[in-house]
Amino acid sequence: MKKPMLLTALLLLAGASATLWAEDGEHQNREKHPKQTSRSLAQAPAVWKTECGSCHMAYPPGLLPATAWKKQMDTLKNHYGVNATLTAEDEKVIRSYLATAAASRRGAAEPPTAGEPPRISRSGWFIRKHDEISPAVWKRKSIGSASNCQACHSGAARGDFDEDGVRIPR
Ligand code: HEC
Ligand code: HEC
Repeated sequence: MKKPMLLTALLLLAGASATLWAEDGEHQNREKHPKQTSRSLAQAPAVWKTECGSCHMAYPPGLLPATAWKKQMDTLKNHYGVNATLTAEDEKVIRSYLATAAASRRGAAEPPTAGEPPRISRSGWFIRKHDEISPAVWKRKSIGSASNCQACHSGAARGDFDEDGVRIPR
């Protein structure tokens, strides 16, 4: 009875990928990198820019799905080794902004996490788009880590990650 089971599994798989193709409207079931709309950044509340942009750039919310941002906001006490807690009022404003401006489910799957909140830089699309960058480059003094988007993308704060604007610093 092994063969029919395998066939069923294959048919199920084919069905699942056909659905994904139809949803993405393109001929691959790969997760595309989400596009940040300038509209959602234009509507960003001031506290998001000041609070979430004080230690690093304020990451455009379209780069992670809402479930991932919720996990970020639920774990601010231990935010990648630092305490990033906010006043209750600011937290409420930022939570609601991130929830509405997050990537659509179609645009981004929640990246895998290991003992820390979800990272943009662990997303499948991120790893694929940056697979030509060697580990030594990420660690350059001028860069520091993959989280430092604006080191290479001059338009990062505007949500502009277009490959035309990329320059890897020495
Ligand atoms: C006190 C400093 C501090 C504040 C305030 C802060 N962060 Fe961070 N954040 C960090 C550090 C440190 C990292 C890890 C950076 C690294 O690995 O190079 C990080 C990483 C991140 C990442 C993952 C970046 C990646 O690699 O994909 C996200 C997303 C993020 N922060 C969102 C937020 C949000 C949203 C807020 C506001 C609610 C915020 N941060 C406020 C210090 C801070
Ligand atoms: C070490 C430099 C460097 C850092 C840091 C970096 N990137 Fe990139 N990024 C690149 C390069 C190089 C490409 C590929 C450009 C190409 O395809 O020719 C790229 C491509 C991209 C693309 C796809 C652009 C397109 O037009 O297809 C996105 C989106 C992106 N990066 C987002 C980010 C985000 C978000 C961060 C921070 C969390 C980040 N990058 C950090 C160098 C970097």
